[in-house]
Amino acid sequence: MRIFTGLKPTGELTLGNYIGSILNFDQNGITKDNSLLCIADLHAITVNPPENTELKRLVREQLAMYIALNIHNKTNIYLQSHIPAHSQLAWILTCFSKNGELDRMTQYKDKKDQSSSTSTGLYTYPILMAADILLYDTTHVPVGIDQKQHVEFCRNVADRFNSYYNCDLFTIPEPIIDQNTKKIYSLTDPSKKMSKSSTTPKSHILLTDSRSVVLKKMKSAVTDSLGIINYDVENQPGVSNLLSIYMAMKNISMNETLNHFDQQSYGFLKTEVAASISDVLEPVQKRYYEILEDETIINEVLTSGAKFASKIASKKIDDVYSIIGYL
Ligand code: AMP
Ligand code: TRP
Repeated sequence: MRIFTGLKPTGELTLGNYIGSILNFDQNGITKDNSLLCIADLHAITVNPPENTELKRLVREQLAMYIALNIHNKTNIYLQSHIPAHSQLAWILTCFSKNGELDRMTQYKDKKDQSSSTSTGLYTYPILMAADILLYDTTHVPVGIDQKQHVEFCRNVADRFNSYYNCDLFTIPEPIIDQNTKKIYSLTDPSKKMSKSSTTPKSHILLTDSRSVVLKKMKSAVTDSLGIINYDVENQPGVSNLLSIYMAMKNISMNETLNHFDQQSYGFLKTEVAASISDVLEPVQKRYYEILEDETIINEVLTSGAKFASKIASKKIDDVYSIIGYL
């Protein structure tokens, strides 16, 4: 088993990232021997590349947050840009991808529709993501549902390469998608994903939000006029979203969550959900600010992560070159 996932440093981490992706590292069976978390900084310049100091700040903050969450003791965290094999393999896989496949990627279509001119990098981004995954003989990729199509693309490309060279060089990965928390929705529009790139601050909770800010955002979360607390994604998407968040923060089942809120009001639901978030985040935030003050640990984590990643990735790219026939 090898678990691999990536997150882009394009903004501050949200509760959606935490529940949909980061929490997976708390699962049994995931250890430092068999898992990697890639800060996908090469992916961060596909849309509106941040300026130099901004990118550095975003990467440092993301790292500090993982360390505050104690993720560095559960997995190997490294920067994509530290491992040249990601870019090398991406080119090879570009030659084994079809335009038709990339045309069908819904994330590309959505983002393209929001902008009058998009980079080729946004279009070929799933290829770089496939390279990320395939370099490490990944068996499982924990992601939110929005990334499922990209993992399927990765499987197809791996399979195409293996068949072409009649080899089993690439392991075909499986996505791990938790059914209840696969997508945390926007608090202001529960038909949309909670996203760090949203321009409506009240739509998303940042992992750095204080208790009073979390409560304020929760209080203004969109619900409905039915007045009954049910898990019914279709008819009560706002309420269901709050229930999913509570369940994830308390690490309990949906049944236990529903029992807790039986016969209760939406007001009670919102204050309870807000408290469940801040109870987890407050101690993390304290450590986060301490880590940002003293960056020694950030540098240590990056050095040991790059060492672990580089060993696996350089062997893989050597094998790929050798199978293709590069002298
Ligand atoms: P990104 O922030 O787009 O780099 O996403 C990093 C990871 O977090 C991916 O696995 C996403 O699927 C996951 N993720 C992002 N937003 C959400 C959300 N609102 N609900 C669940 N998972 C999410
Ligand atoms: N594309 C992912 C996202 O936007 C981030 C990512 C990059 C990733 N490389 C990855 C996720 C490899 C899983 C595996 O959310």
